Amino acid sequence: MTKVATIIVLVAILGLNSAAEARKGRILESFEYTALSCRGHTASITDFGGVGDGKTSNTKAFQDAITHLSQYASDGGAQLYVPAGQWLTGSFSLTSHFTLYLHKDAVLLASQDLNEWPVLKPLPSYGRGRDAAAGRYASLIFGTNLTDVIVTGANGTLDGQGAFWWQNFHKGKLKYTRPYLIEFMYSDNIQISNITLLNSPNWNVHPVYSSNLLIQGITILAPVTSPNTDGINPDSCTNVRIEDSYIVSGDDCIAVKSGWDEYGISYGMPTKQLVIRRLTCISPYSAAIALGSEMSGGIEDVRAEDITAIHTESGVRIKTARGRGGFVKDIYVKGMTLHTMKWVFWMTGNYKAHPDNHYDPNALPVIQGINYRDIVADNASMAARLEGIEGDPFTQICISNVTIGMAVKAKKVPWTCTDIEGITSGVSPRPCELLPDQGPEKAKACDFPTEPLSIDQVVLKSCTYRMNHM
Ligand SMILES: *[C@@H]1O[C@H](CO)[C@@H](O)[C@H](O)[C@H]1NC(C)=O
Ligand SMILES: *[C@@H]1O[C@H](CO)[C@@H](O)[C@H](O)[C@H]1NC(C)=O
Ligand SMILES: *[C@@H]1O[C@H](CO)[C@@H](O)[C@H](O)[C@H]1NC(C)=O
Ligand SMILES: *[C@@H]1O[C@H](CO)[C@@H](O)[C@H](O)[C@H]1NC(C)=O
Ligand SMILES: *[C@@H]1O[C@H](CO)[C@@H](O)[C@H](O)[C@H]1NC(C)=O
Repeated sequence: MTKVATIIVLVAILGLNSAAEARKGRILESFEYTALSCRGHTASITDFGGVGDGKTSNTKAFQDAITHLSQYASDGGAQLYVPAGQWLTGSFSLTSHFTLYLHKDAVLLASQDLNEWPVLKPLPSYGRGRDAAAGRYASLIFGTNLTDVIVTGANGTLDGQGAFWWQNFHKGKLKYTRPYLIEFMYSDNIQISNITLLNSPNWNVHPVYSSNLLIQGITILAPVTSPNTDGINPDSCTNVRIEDSYIVSGDDCIAVKSGWDEYGISYGMPTKQLVIRRLTCISPYSAAIALGSEMSGGIEDVRAEDITAIHTESGVRIKTARGRGGFVKDIYVKGMTLHTMKWVFWMTGNYKAHPDNHYDPNALPVIQGINYRDIVADNASMAARLEGIEGDPFTQICISNVTIGMAVKAKKVPWTCTDIEGITSGVSPRPCELLPDQGPEKAKACDFPTEPLSIDQVVLKSCTYRMNHM
């Protein structure tokens, strides 16, 4: 054969091949993203019988895919690719050394069939479910006792279809606590990034008893009146970095927790070394960042920077009560821009919800070393409402370089303070007498640590994949 003929034959074979591929509906996809680890193996949910028509249940396809891919844990790890489509599914569990990747038009639609939601025992640090004393439904994406897990995508979506759950919750029809969208328990080295979470039945992201977590580029959207749709709730976790996220919700955008009353005290696992930066929050009935109310294992070394809140009840809120025990200490906040707030600063020692009647009223929380600086707010109804506990004052509060523009209809007294101790500098309007002004030269009085946390030193790798899928 001549050279030309060989080329023609080759072209013909290649052409036939790609025509055959096209007939089978195979698509060549290549994508790239940054991650804690790249994976050696990739498969698509369609390889396991997944159907993205919004009607077929994919719970078994997800679980089969993950079980199959778990064999690669010690062989480069594996990635499960979810292409464009509406993938109806109940709860499924992840595995270690594993990545779940969502195409930008992939939507995981949470099933409304209660049989698709296994029931878990209450968390030991809570003693009961929050909605109901019995167990709790497993989250849509669940992981326990795992290491090295990534949930990411080109801004693909988890849609909790929450209205069904909110209505049943309001009617008292649910036997168990509503599911979250993502929960990791007893896990480490976790990345959750570049995805959108819509209409969660309950909290959105709940890492508990876990460490070394990177949460980046998350969009969370839920109606501002939806019940308990907290954004991200690090709970008894160490070394957590949350950044570049946008949250609109019916409850706190970020709620830092560590267990409830006697259960949290005896479990004794704090949340510490937490960084929150470049967060934008809209939550008219809650806080941008809440510490508590369940804080019985302690909360320590929280650093929040570059926080924007719009039409939000308060910027940072500390919630605790007699019976909680535990502590909230070494809290540092620097750089908040706040528009339309009820209370810029809010601390309350009277947040009464208790798991049961067995809490110890003599278990008093220690609230100490709370630092706020470089804050500008406008249209605030009150500057601050700071209420410690009688006989157990909240101490070492430091507030500096803060300018609060009051609303036209603001309360007459901008600050109310009881059972607290601390100082201020360069704060307007003029603070309450329990927080004496140290003069404008101390405008940088409030600490913000300069040494980075280990989670800040994590370096992401660039991962590139090419795959053929149905
Ligand atoms: C997960 O880890 C916890 C804490 O180490 C342990 O108590 C529990 O038994 C483990 N669960 C499983 C399923 O291995
Ligand atoms: C991700 O999707 C959400 C919801 O559609 C959108 O609001 C957000 O801007 C998107 N983020 C990026 C980085 O594209
Ligand atoms: C998230 O997306 C942004 C913008 O596309 C990109 O710069 C960033 O590296 C991504 N981060 C992760 C951790 O996936
Ligand atoms: C006071 O805070 C503003 C931001 O609100 C910042 O630009 C300025 O540098 C701060 N001043 C000092 C003295 O730190
Ligand atoms: C100020 O806050 C009130 C609610 O307290 C709101 O109705 C009003 O629109 C806000 N004004 C501006 C200029 O944002």
